[in-house]
Amino acid sequence: MTLRLASAGESHGPALVAILTGLPAGLELDRDAIDADLRRRQEGYGRSPRQQIEQDRIEVLAGLRHGRTLGTPLALVVANRDHRNWTWGMSPWPPEGEPAGKGTKRVTLPRPGHADLAGVQKYDHDDVRNALERASARHTAVHVAAGAVAKALLATIGIEVRGEPLDEELLRARVDAARAERDTAGGVVEVRATGVPPGLGTYAAKEDRLDARLAAALMGIQAVKGVEIGDGFALAALRGSEAHDEIAPDRRRISNRAGGIEAGVSNGEEIVVRAAMKPLPTLMKPLRSVDLDTGEPASALVERSDVAAVEALAVVAEAAVAWELAVLALDKFGGDAVRDFVAAHRAYVERIEWR
Ligand SMILES: Cc1cc2nc3c(=O)[nH]c(=O)nc-3n(C[C@H](O)[C@H](O)[C@H](O)COP(=O)(O)O)c2cc1C
Repeated sequence: MTLRLASAGESHGPALVAILTGLPAGLELDRDAIDADLRRRQEGYGRSPRQQIEQDRIEVLAGLRHGRTLGTPLALVVANRDHRNWTWGMSPWPPEGEPAGKGTKRVTLPRPGHADLAGVQKYDHDDVRNALERASARHTAVHVAAGAVAKALLATIGIEVRGEPLDEELLRARVDAARAERDTAGGVVEVRATGVPPGLGTYAAKEDRLDARLAAALMGIQAVKGVEIGDGFALAALRGSEAHDEIAPDRRRISNRAGGIEAGVSNGEEIVVRAAMKPLPTLMKPLRSVDLDTGEPASALVERSDVAAVEALAVVAEAAVAWELAVLALDKFGGDAVRDFVAAHRAYVERIEWR
């Protein structure tokens, strides 16, 4: 059974939900570890005051008993504490009583760089909020929770995944400068995975290549506009003799410019991927737009927003990479029970004499 994830949830709706199917039974989950990743996602330089309201915590509704997975669908929930300020505006059912709180006024001023304009055109909405609520990256919280589950599975076979922003100090200086001018900033994050054996992914079908899956997973995160595997774009300027990772007698590599992936298959070296985040589209000094009601020129919507979310992206990207590695590890080693998964991994690394 393939590991799958479905998620639902609007930014200011009651909650974010994820259902994970295909997880083996007997996987021990640590609530504090999941909550710690949720907290890491909320922290970071440049984030908005909303993060003080939220204090995300994981709730599990199904698939877990006494801290171990049952091999049945795992249902995860992260409540939106801010919903209490939006109960009328984001009521799932027609709201009762007078409009009160946030989200009661229609939004008609689409932001360049966000889902606003294409969203109302595509779905026939008359309120930009109907598009932006799901396009918002708020629901990455529940993907981070799913990533924490994936990391628990990967840990049973010695794989660790970690995401970090590149150039922290420079990034913070750029965030400060952007904030001072009521502007926004982007940046680059790097995710590394250690302990990945050779053989995850395949060259047999393009959609199952490890590099293709990682690129799609990272591009699936809001505001990511570029993905690099290993030395990526820099390789294009090198000669072959400078670019490829020579093979030592123990079958390890002397360098790792490929970022641990050749022909869509892991080669046993550290997996290294980078994602570039554009500057966030909600500006306190708004860009030019149109009022969708009048057709007249107008300034784009201004609402509470991060100046930058690069440190948060590092955590979200880590979760996305962990998820894809877990999918491919389960494809390769299978197992209805974690012990079968671990045993299959051990038999495989023994066969290829990998250490
Ligand atoms: C962790 C995270 C936090 C984000 N926070 C904001 C934000 O506060 N304000 C904003 O305008 N965009 C934010 N974004 C980016 C938008 O969600 C994104 O730019 C928008 O959905 C349009 O999608 P696109 O950039 O992929 O084209 C965030 C993205 C991530 C990954």
